Amino acid sequence: ESTILNISVIGGGYVGLVTASCFAYLGHTVRIVEIDTKKAELINKGIPPIYEEKLEDILKQTSGKNLSAQSHYEGIDDADIIFICVGTPPQDDGSADLTYITRASESIGSALKGSEKYHVITVKSTVPPGTTESVVIPAVMKSLGDTSDSVGFCMNPEFLREGRAIDDFLHPDRIVIGGSSEKAISVVQKAYEKLDALVITTSLKAAEMIKYTSNAFLATKISFSNEIGNICKRIGIDVYEVMKGVGYDHRINPYFLNAGLGFGGSCFPKDVMALIKLAEKNGENPILLKSVIDVNEQQPGRIIQVLHTRIGDIRGKRIAVLGLAFKDNTDDVRDSRSIPVIDELLTQGAIVSAFDPMATESMKKIFPDITYHTNAGDALEGADACLVLTEWPEFSKLTDEFNRMKSPVIIEGRRILSCSGIEGVCW
Ligand code: UDX
Repeated sequence: ESTILNISVIGGGYVGLVTASCFAYLGHTVRIVEIDTKKAELINKGIPPIYEEKLEDILKQTSGKNLSAQSHYEGIDDADIIFICVGTPPQDDGSADLTYITRASESIGSALKGSEKYHVITVKSTVPPGTTESVVIPAVMKSLGDTSDSVGFCMNPEFLREGRAIDDFLHPDRIVIGGSSEKAISVVQKAYEKLDALVITTSLKAAEMIKYTSNAFLATKISFSNEIGNICKRIGIDVYEVMKGVGYDHRINPYFLNAGLGFGGSCFPKDVMALIKLAEKNGENPILLKSVIDVNEQQPGRIIQVLHTRIGDIRGKRIAVLGLAFKDNTDDVRDSRSIPVIDELLTQGAIVSAFDPMATESMKKIFPDITYHTNAGDALEGADACLVLTEWPEFSKLTDEFNRMKSPVIIEGRRILSCSGIEGVCW
């Protein structure tokens, strides 16, 4: 018999919605506070405002039953746990903007005023170490106008991969809970009771640092693989063969060693930059982390270089681009490595025809003037060269489509194709 908790989730964006739906799926009673009324309405109708595998299913099972969304804070005083899942966008200098965190904390404090119940306010957003203690707690306490111990605080980072977020939530490698007290931690732990998962309890600050460190380490694995790949390319070695041999060492492990265009998405670039800024503010010069970013920034330019060595000047040439999303199984193009590549193709006067299984609509907002196709074959029609920019598994099934190109120049920014005559960006 497991405990059913009342849970409120502030923010119905990517993390908030996945978190809320999954807690409802586990049987808890969940309320989402989402300022955007349109989003809240969609959620209440069981329609996910974003694409995420399995989310629609889970939302259909829970919405209108034990999951609801609203655009105000009323009623959150019935919650055992209030998760803060608002955005922490980068500021101009790369450090994290905590405006939404502060605002949410103040609103929570006001909404909990006079409540008799014990509440645990839990930060899930990725925030710089120290934020829960120095921003969230003071903001909540100020508007709560209370110094009693009717509230506890936790920091419980998410490690969800887009496209696989539901599975990651339900089958985590570990759950990290930093807390202001044992009591606060034990409540949050109860929310996850049904999952058979390793729980690591820490201080608030350490939990915050664990999230940044995980992302920075994963990003480092990718940039490391890319640097080795760039060396390999000079010598004519396949870096994938090398990393396979390296990855079987259990101290290293075989994941996140795929060389290519580098990392994009809403987390890695932003979080590594925020960690660099945090280090600098505290008197450190994090040279390794800066190099991780530098290598990543270089990779898109390298695919253009390879293109030049194959077909020379690209002015007026037709370049087919396969893949726009920052990775497979998502329609998200945030910080996608395809953006700097297409930018450079256009700057140099190429004619770009693109195909992506899901991300076309998102990319039209960034590049309204390139030609988008609804299948790979049409994008390849008459092309002088093809660049593969996203690791969509379905690209591996392409064969005859490449016969529609004017010349068979295929350059891979990801290792995904299985046809012949391919050159890789760094292998
Ligand atoms: C990541 C983290 O994995 C997740 O734990 C965290 O909570 C949020 O950030 P996500 O951004 O969804 O998740 O994508 P992920 O699958 O990690 O890939 C990130 C980027 O790295 C993609 O652009 C991908 O193409 C690239 N990548 C990944 C590589 O270039 N090589 C690899 O070996 C793995």
